[in-house]
Amino acid sequence: MARPIVEINGVNKIYGSNHVVKDLNLVVEEGEFLTLLGSSGCGKTTTLRMIAGFEEPTSGSIKVEGEAIEEKEPFERNVNTVFQSYALFPHKTIYDNIAYGLKMKKVPKDEIKKRVHEMMELVQLEGFEKRYPSQLSGGQKQRVAIARALINRPRVLLLDEPLGALDLKLRKQMQLELKRLQKKLNITFIYVTHDQEEALTMSDRIAIMNAGVLDQVAAPTEIYEHPATKFVATFIGETNIFDGSIRSINGESLSIQIENGDVKATGSEFAAGEFINVSVRPEKMKYALDPVEGFTLIATVKDYVYVGSVVKCIAVLPNGNELKIERLAGQPLPQLGEQIFPYWNEKDVVVIHNRDQIFYQAVDNVVLG
Ligand SMILES: Nc1ncnc2c1ncn2[C@@H]1O[C@H](COP(=O)(O)OP(=O)(O)OP(=O)(O)O)[C@@H](O)[C@H]1O
Ligand SMILES: [Mg+2]
Repeated sequence: MARPIVEINGVNKIYGSNHVVKDLNLVVEEGEFLTLLGSSGCGKTTTLRMIAGFEEPTSGSIKVEGEAIEEKEPFERNVNTVFQSYALFPHKTIYDNIAYGLKMKKVPKDEIKKRVHEMMELVQLEGFEKRYPSQLSGGQKQRVAIARALINRPRVLLLDEPLGALDLKLRKQMQLELKRLQKKLNITFIYVTHDQEEALTMSDRIAIMNAGVLDQVAAPTEIYEHPATKFVATFIGETNIFDGSIRSINGESLSIQIENGDVKATGSEFAAGEFINVSVRPEKMKYALDPVEGFTLIATVKDYVYVGSVVKCIAVLPNGNELKIERLAGQPLPQLGEQIFPYWNEKDVVVIHNRDQIFYQAVDNVVLG
């Protein structure tokens, strides 16, 4: 059983009238690769800075290895950070950049030399000792930044969009390298990105942040297949999302009313009359040329987009909302302008409690008084 290494308890951060982080609770386990994912401005960097001890929470507590982070001097903290900008010293060689933390700690010279060389081998930068940062590519600079952060052997490494400045190919390669390093050294990574694909490929768990609130913390497949909120459903992958309410319940089968008509889905923890969202992935969206029992949606085919081996069909509902339907190329498709009857297999879709509004109001009331 893994041990908790970072414990965040009821943390809020308020700048003036800007409530940036809202009632954050999160336990990160030893050796875990946890990604904080969310749109720009949602509070990811602020959260990371609080974990690092650079910034104090307005309320709540953060512990690393069981101790409050603010009670430790910066050099005693077993936490290191890699910033998006690399922040290398331009006038120091690569060797001196990587050795910096050990020199500050007055580690003996021989030991420094040994550990710097170990690090350079680990991040595949052997032979670059005497170069300066300006003589390196973006990916190489990034590896220096990572080596410099790892040389103190932190228990927790915080990485704030570390691959943000790299081109796609290098980014993919560095994703794999970072993941390999993390597992090899068994260091806990808390990784920040707004790139969902990066989060899905690298993480043990993803924490999805929505305007300062943690909407869901779970393994990538769980996040994709069982989104806990409307935001998570729309943020991860493509989906068709409907606002609606439960009209009636028959066992696990739910009859649902949405703005454009009636639909069906499956779920066990819902009440008649409850406001919900239904999320239907484009690949799960079906259509018929005649009405299907339990469904009363009618849409008009508006457009086709060919994306490699799949075709995306865009159909419009009476209220103007667009549906995305995905098919393998080569299958028969309705004509542009034709009327279709969209439906789906009850078990192929996710029903979500529509609690967003209520939840955000409750948090604001508690913290702002
Ligand atoms: N020192 C500060 N003083 C006042 N407001 C701040 C401060 N730092 C951040 N903010 C505000 O807090 C909010 C969250 O900022 P943060 O940097 O945490 O976002 P982020 O999720 O990292 O975004 P991005 O993906 O763009 O980096 C923003 O609205 C930002 O303007
Ligand atoms: Mg940021």
